[in-house]
Amino acid sequence: MTQVFFNGDWVAPEQAKVSVFDRGFLFGDGVYEVIPAFNKKLFGAADHLTRLARSLAEIDIINPLTDAQWHAVLDRLVAECDSDDVSIYIQVSRGTPPKRDHAYPNPPVAPTVLASASPIAPVSPAIREQGARAITVPDWRWQRCDIKSVNLLPNIMARQQAVAAGAMEAILVREGIALEGAASNLFAVIDGELITAPLGPHILGGVTRNRLVAMVRTQGQLPMLECPIPFDRLFDASEVFMTSSTRDLLPITRINEHAVGSGLPGEIWATLNHDFQQLKLQRDRV
Ligand code: PDD
Repeated sequence: MTQVFFNGDWVAPEQAKVSVFDRGFLFGDGVYEVIPAFNKKLFGAADHLTRLARSLAEIDIINPLTDAQWHAVLDRLVAECDSDDVSIYIQVSRGTPPKRDHAYPNPPVAPTVLASASPIAPVSPAIREQGARAITVPDWRWQRCDIKSVNLLPNIMARQQAVAAGAMEAILVREGIALEGAASNLFAVIDGELITAPLGPHILGGVTRNRLVAMVRTQGQLPMLECPIPFDRLFDASEVFMTSSTRDLLPITRINEHAVGSGLPGEIWATLNHDFQQLKLQRDRV
């Protein structure tokens, strides 16, 4: 298996060992990123590294690598992975101080740094043709969902409920607002307008989301609104789709027991998905 980058060294995954006193293990005190590459080319890496730097800054961990050093790590992981479409996982935790204490160690200790690669599993043709089902669940997360923290217990519980219900994603609903998925952002077409939740502490600022919003605004053909989607309005949507780095634009054609629009992926999704794929092909290294 491809080597992983672990605390500055390249080692086999089974040699990358974390202390039982690591704060990532004890407290979930760390942040992460998932960066895709398609046809062996990174997509959105600069934006992901910017978000990583922001997540680290928000919790006072010094970024262990410069952007140039991160890029060198990413390039090697993509080159060595035995798949053309690659998902790179980065995790940085606050490291391993000698004693368990909730407060940040003072002076700080070296963070624990991992970067690894795995193949991106393609979304099945059946899902692309017929769309996926999502369920709605209460959002049990905290008030800083903009930080890409490794504390994912509410997200994994939501996703597990989706899996148990035979659905692909869970839509998180807080105080009557449909915010985003357990691991994706949410878009709905309501009365001909494309709507997604505004950036803020209740969602993760998805790189795919931000790129799509920018693309739609540049095209200028579809009204693009960043505003809250009330839970009941979700069921008035003619189209719904969810975005993430590893799944692009995933059409949602059933929510709970209701069909969305015609019950098949819509035309707006098809056009935007096509244009987004073009964007992926056009890029140089970004
Ligand atoms: N998740 N919202 C949440 C809560 C997420 O976890 C993710 C991504 C997104 C989409 O962000 P992006 O477009 O930058 O991938 C939105 C990753 C893929 C994960 O946890 O595996």
